Amino acid sequence: MSELKPVVTVDELRERLKRFPRLSLADLPTPLLDCPRLSEAVGGPRILVKREDQTGMAFGGNKVREFEYSVAPAVEERYDILLHGAASQSNQSRLTAAVAARLGLKAVIVGRKDAHAEPVNGNLLLTHLFGAEVHLMESSEEREALVARLKSEGHRVYNTSSDGYHLRGVSYVDGFLELWEQLQGRHIQPDALYVCSGMHTHVGLAVGARALGIQLRIVGISPSPQDNVKANAARAEVANEVARMLDLDLTFSGTDFESYGEYAGGAYGTVTAAGREAVILAARTEGLVLDPVYTGKTFGAMIDHCRQGQFTADQTIVFVHTGGTPALFAYGDEILETARV
Ligand SMILES: Cc1ncc(COP(=O)(O)O)c(C=O)c1O
Repeated sequence: MSELKPVVTVDELRERLKRFPRLSLADLPTPLLDCPRLSEAVGGPRILVKREDQTGMAFGGNKVREFEYSVAPAVEERYDILLHGAASQSNQSRLTAAVAARLGLKAVIVGRKDAHAEPVNGNLLLTHLFGAEVHLMESSEEREALVARLKSEGHRVYNTSSDGYHLRGVSYVDGFLELWEQLQGRHIQPDALYVCSGMHTHVGLAVGARALGIQLRIVGISPSPQDNVKANAARAEVANEVARMLDLDLTFSGTDFESYGEYAGGAYGTVTAAGREAVILAARTEGLVLDPVYTGKTFGAMIDHCRQGQFTADQTIVFVHTGGTPALFAYGDEILETARV
């Protein structure tokens, strides 16, 4: 880890974040946990876990922090429906439903009828429990027709994926600030952060670090296969917009991002051997719960990098645990294949 020239102080960055409307949804700060048995098991660096799975609401996760910023405009602008559509075991669908319940709005989920939709379990069970109207559909045409119908009926529909898009990145500038203060309070200088992210968590952490002049490896692991070069160029574009929104004099390019799609396996949502091993290892060394779709794969990547010798025993890694644990219950058989003792 080394220092660059900061473009803003911690206090000034905090002030700039206050310019955005914000909901109060998360229990913050989330804990920062030392994992000595895990460090020993991977034979390498000190490992700390930033418990973003403990953001509190509805089994937590990074979306709770993201939604504090990104869903605030829906309240200000009096939308009446929060909409989301993704895999049947989507964490974002679960949290769209829970946040809608908390805000007294209606949630409509236009998800995919995929391999983990039956039996109803995990995130899908919770999404129903929070009172969302759930439609699992085969095609994007069906989903678009449903959204068009809701709009024609006069509803104001806020899509938690596309609306407030850049604000989700802003939320993790705030997340970085929180983490940095915790690390400084404990006199810890990390060498790398590992985070599962397609976009916003990684971008927000990277913008936060650069704004404060902190140079450290931020390793993103994508839950989906990706063309790393193209995906990093897309991250840079979002980072530039997040920096602009915060009046930060920063410019990013694709090479500023380190992200890997290779650990996702053949497709989003499939279980990999390394991800399964990581879920089991975290559970058995630290009583730490990961999931097979997001954090298990990221943890597997971190273990792989440790085994390749990328870190020495005197270095420190922070694993940002983005949550997603309810999906574990929908993947029980696939995890238990090798986990029974
Ligand atoms: C558990 C978990 N981790 C990581 C992510 C990635 O989030 P983002 O791409 O917004 O950083 C998601 C959501 O897609 C998630 O549910």
